[in-house]
Formats: sequence, structure tokens, C-alpha cells
Amino acid sequence: MGKSDKKDKNIKNTAEEAKDMQESVAEGSAESMSAITSDMANEATDNDLISGENAPMVLAENLVKIYKTSELEVLALQGLDLRVERGELTAIIGNSGSGKSTFLNMLGGLDEPSAGKLFVDGKNLFKLTAKEKVLYKRDTVGFVWQNNGRNLLPFMNAMENIMTPMHLTSEKNKKERALELLDLVGMSHRKFSRMNQLSGGEQQRIAIAIALANKPKLLLADEPTGSVDRKTADYIFDLFKRLNQEMGQTIIIVTHDVELSKKVARVVAIRDGKISSERILKEHYSNLGNGEINWMEEETQDEYSIVDRAGRIQIPRNMLDSLELKGNKIKVTCEDKTIMLHNPDDEQ
Ligand SMILES: Nc1ncnc2c1ncn2[C@@H]1O[C@H](COP(=O)(O)OP(=O)(O)O)[C@@H](O)[C@H]1O
Ligand SMILES: [Mg+2]
Repeated sequence: MGKSDKKDKNIKNTAEEAKDMQESVAEGSAESMSAITSDMANEATDNDLISGENAPMVLAENLVKIYKTSELEVLALQGLDLRVERGELTAIIGNSGSGKSTFLNMLGGLDEPSAGKLFVDGKNLFKLTAKEKVLYKRDTVGFVWQNNGRNLLPFMNAMENIMTPMHLTSEKNKKERALELLDLVGMSHRKFSRMNQLSGGEQQRIAIAIALANKPKLLLADEPTGSVDRKTADYIFDLFKRLNQEMGQTIIIVTHDVELSKKVARVVAIRDGKISSERILKEHYSNLGNGEINWMEEETQDEYSIVDRAGRIQIPRNMLDSLELKGNKIKVTCEDKTIMLHNPDDEQ
């Protein structure tokens, strides 16, 4: 047997292994699934993606989350991959129930996956001890929710609310820092107001200041504009943009507001628990100021589909519908580096 024959055989074996792997995933065997995901994570760990100087802020690999209740199992995340660099502002959009909050809660250290790996700021989130996790939640991430009841203490004023998360830290000038944060979110004039004296939008601005109190490396916001009016939503969204541009704050915002997301440099879309597509701001728009663009009217971003490590992509629903397929088979051809998808019935 020649050297090249041997090589071919190896390639064939690898292909067969990959096929076996796909089949076992298709069968939904939890055991084989976690074996596969841990293999894949090891690959990434090996090439120094995780903790080197150039390590991303977030690296999610093949995250799977299954919620089990007595009647049913919900597959909330189905092999989600995402990489977020330091200093990026990323928006996550997707229909209700697509897994956005599940993913954000994992990043916030509030939930654990059924399989997969998640690294934030070089830390393997699922290997943290209980004590490390408390510190992670206090120092590495800040969290803003749609419903600020989770963040705010109603009987304290704005200033006291902002100082609360600093109590257990070594921050020396807690008052100064609180005043700085009030200024940052444009709420200096309300520092002695209690929460029930503030509007929903103002409470949300205080919630953002609280989330920033301990200088988190990663700021997470789950539908922060979900229950405020249009004008307030614009203000809050622009505040996040300013934090990112002027202070280099890494931010991930979940939003269902497609219009607002048009302002962001990078928008990833989750469909059925997996990243399906990404939109990137066109260069022309990234250099323009807020007032110079009619964000609602213009196509500010380019859209890309995401290819996962097994070569799968999600075809946009409207394109798939336009093929009017009868079954689940599609004809794939490639010409001049262009791949085309056809309805097999159209060829006869
Ligand atoms: N604690 C839970 N128990 C059972 N199912 C859940 C739980 N949390 C979320 N789910 C389900 O997981 C899926 C994803 O939910 P979620 O992440 O909240 O979506 P989104 O934030 O995109 O609306 C949904 O089908 C939801 O019903
Ligand atoms: Mg949600």
C-alpha cells in the first residue's frame, strides 16, 4: 500500500467518524452528545484561544440547554457558537422563545448548560467553584434586565442604590464613583430621588449605573428597552453605544427591537437556539454621527448566514418558502464558486 493510499484511507476513516458522530447527535443520545462537545471544546482549548492576551471576551462552543419538566423537554439552545471580542458592542435578536435569555443567563453565571463550553474573560464558567462564581457575578459581569425590580431597592435613593453593589469591594471612593456613574447616565439631578419617584426610563438608567458600579468587563442587558417608550428606548440604546465607544465597554444587548439593532456594529440572530445569521454595519454608516442617519429608513447593515462547524446553515425562511418545496429534499449545485439551491421538481 502506497503512502497516498494510506492517507486516503485516513481521510475516509475521519469522514466515517464524522458521519457516525452526526448520526449519534441525530439520535439525540445525551451521552454521545456531551462526549462530542467536550472533544470540540478541547480542540479550542489547545490552540490558546481561551486565556491568551488575544483571547475573546466571550467564547461559546456548542452550547446545549435542555429544560426538563414533568411533561416535556424543551431544547432551548441547540449547539450555539459565538465569539465576542473585547470592546465589541453586540446585539442579539430573535423571536420570543428562541433562547436569548437562556444564553444571557449563562453568560451572567445564573444558569448552567446541559452540554458545551463557555469562556468569559478567559474563565471556564462551568469549572468555577461556588466562591469563584460569586466573585465572577460581582466583578466580571454586570446585568441589566427589562424589569428593573430585580436590580433596584425601592426604599433607597438613586445614590444609595448605586453604592450598594460596591459595599463588599475594595472601591475606596464609593461616593465619588456613584456621582460619576450618575453623571454618566444623565441622572445627576435625581441623586436623592427614591426609585418610586422615578419614571420607568429613569429607573432603567439607574439600573445601568448599578450594573456598571463594579467596573464589569462585560455588560449584559436583556431587553433593556422592552418596557419603555420609543424616545426613552432611543436614549437608553444611545447610552449603551456611548459606553462602548467612549469607554471601550464590552456589551451584549438582547433586543427584539429590529429598528434599534440597525444602529449596532454587529447583530447576531438566534433562531431555535442557534446563531443563524449576522448583520454587520456597513463602513459608510460606522463613520457617521447619530444625527446624520435616518436609521429606520436605510439599509445600514450587510447580512450573512452563519455556517456551523458541520457545514450546516439556516436558510432564511422567506427564501426557502419561495422554492415551494413539496418534501424536505433540495438540489444543491455549485458553479463558479456560487452554490445554488433548487427545488428538485423544477428540474424534470
Ligand atoms: N426554566 C425553564 N423551564 C422550562 N422551559 C424554559 C425555562 N426557561 C426557558 N424555557 C424555554 O426555553 C425556550 C427558550 O426560552 P428563552 O431563552 O427565555 O427565550 P427568549 O429569551 O429568546 O424569549 C422557550 O421555549 C422557553 O419556554
Ligand atoms: Mg427573553
